[in-house]
Amino acid sequence: MSPLLRWLLAAAAPLSLLLVLSMAPAIVTRAVSSSAGELRIVYAGETLGYISPCGCSKPMIGGMDRRGALVQRLRRSGPLLLIDTGDLTPASGRQDEIKADTLARMFDAMACDAIGIGEKDLALGLPALAQLQARTRTPFLAANVRDASGNPLFLPYVVVRRTVQGKAQSAAIAAVLSPSEARSAGFVSDEFRIDDPDRALDAIKPAMMKTNLPILLYHGPRDEAVSAARRHPWIRMVLYAHGGDAPAPPLRIGTTVLLCAGSKGKYVGVASFGKGRSPSAVRHMPLEERWGSDGRIRKLRTAYQQRLIDERLLEAIPRTPHPSGQEYAGSQACRSCHAGAYDVWRSSRHAVAMDTLRAEGADRDPECVPCHVTGLQSTGGYAEGRNHLAHVGCESCHGPAAGHAATGGDPLPARSGPEACRACHVPDHSPKFQYDAYWSRIRH
Ligand code: HEC
Ligand code: HEC
Ligand code: HEC
Ligand code: HEC
Repeated sequence: MSPLLRWLLAAAAPLSLLLVLSMAPAIVTRAVSSSAGELRIVYAGETLGYISPCGCSKPMIGGMDRRGALVQRLRRSGPLLLIDTGDLTPASGRQDEIKADTLARMFDAMACDAIGIGEKDLALGLPALAQLQARTRTPFLAANVRDASGNPLFLPYVVVRRTVQGKAQSAAIAAVLSPSEARSAGFVSDEFRIDDPDRALDAIKPAMMKTNLPILLYHGPRDEAVSAARRHPWIRMVLYAHGGDAPAPPLRIGTTVLLCAGSKGKYVGVASFGKGRSPSAVRHMPLEERWGSDGRIRKLRTAYQQRLIDERLLEAIPRTPHPSGQEYAGSQACRSCHAGAYDVWRSSRHAVAMDTLRAEGADRDPECVPCHVTGLQSTGGYAEGRNHLAHVGCESCHGPAAGHAATGGDPLPARSGPEACRACHVPDHSPKFQYDAYWSRIRH
């Protein structure tokens, strides 16, 4: 039995007990009077760990501090409901556990009303999820995720009340996880099961229909969300997942509207509900710099970066000796014989790549440092204290050249060329990369 399985087995009983005790749907009352006369549902999801804006090319879109600032701005003009549809991180290791915890704190700081559970959140493992929920005020929702004995592990739905133009309004937010998504992601084990979403929804339908606005977070693809909307016409709004990076055009099935705000935390959706059954307006807003930055969220991001340092995650990156068997010398060691090349390099962005990260507070972040220094994955490459290997040095492209630098004669481990660039200039981080144009800017 794997250690994780044993952990789950050991934790399963107390875990479900703990969560079932608090299973009566919470009712959140946050009276905010408004003259706008409309209740706005503000939604995003599939943040996938993008606490900061995505990518390395300006203009960068996204970032939790901008999401927070936009929500604050919207709140100033009237009541709203704030929802995240789940998949906080890709759940690929310790850094993502810290990220999930950080994101949950950020949602608390934004006074988020509900977070749906995605298949990637389940991949964090039930013990980690239970700890996360215990520390977080924002409820995690999943009406059809149960433990092996059929006890629910998360709240099926929450009822949220707001005062709109002096009138009390209530909304019910429920979430289900697509069984096929959970299966294809391979996270279903004997320790918990994903039930039929329809049955789960039928069970909570009477309670949800007592509110003015039943909302469903369907954590699954559009086609499945459409079928769910057909089978449950009493639901007024479905937020689905896995619709791609960019927001999808709104879709209507009967009187139900289906929406998806995209992924990687780049956009926020706002649906305004007035008197009609359908929203009077739906907007998807890119998280651009103009929204400003939420100081509370920035503080939590700084604390996150400090945790990466405290847990020494950069130092834990696996390293292997460079296949050439050569050692790194640092760019300074090349200067005496290659003054021309050195001067070109010194005035390029490569020579300050680590300063760029430092300015972002990301200079100890294992997700950033590999492309902004020399030889991080090699035994003799960049590490704390080896400042001569900070930045993208000569040997990032030419390979470790200590032997050559010592004699001026030894052959270099590799000839550099377009392939060398593409190790770092990947589409996500350098969307405009084109070899000829880029090389001409650093030709030496
Ligand atoms: C002691 C002098 C000396 C030092 C120090 C030195 N080189 Fe060289 N390098 C040479 C000589 C000599 C040649 C061969 C002459 C030529 O063809 O330009 C050369 C050639 C090269 C070439 C082109 C040849 C090829 O195989 O592609 C590269 C690239 C290169 N050096 C990189 C470096 C780097 C990187 C460093 C620092 C780590 C470095 N050199 C340090 C003397 C030096
Ligand atoms: C080890 C990773 C790495 C490799 C390999 C690499 N680069 Fe870069 N490159 C970067 C980073 C990081 C930056 C941004 C540095 C900054 O702005 O702080 C950058 C920036 C640049 C820029 C400046 C872009 C601008 O906006 O001014 C050019 C040009 C460039 N690289 C060309 C190349 C070419 C050509 C190659 C291959 C021959 C190459 N790079 C290989 C990491 C790399
Ligand atoms: C896969 C390699 C890679 C990773 C990982 C990476 N970067 Fe970069 N970064 C680059 C490259 C390449 C550029 C230059 C892009 C260009 O100009 O085309 C760059 C440029 C930048 C810039 C300069 C943007 C500008 O236009 O001024 C910043 C800031 C930056 N990166 C921050 C980060 C942060 C923060 C992280 C971690 C979250 C990170 N990078 C992770 C490769 C990477
Ligand atoms: C971003 C990648 C990159 C960096 C950084 C870089 N080079 Fe190069 N260098 C190349 C490429 C690509 C070529 C052309 C292909 C080749 O000849 O290998 C080249 C060519 C050379 C040559 C051969 C020039 C000739 O006339 O044949 C030398 C010498 C050299 N580089 C030295 C250096 C030194 C020294 C540094 C650091 C001060 C450096 N390079 C930094 C990518 C890089």
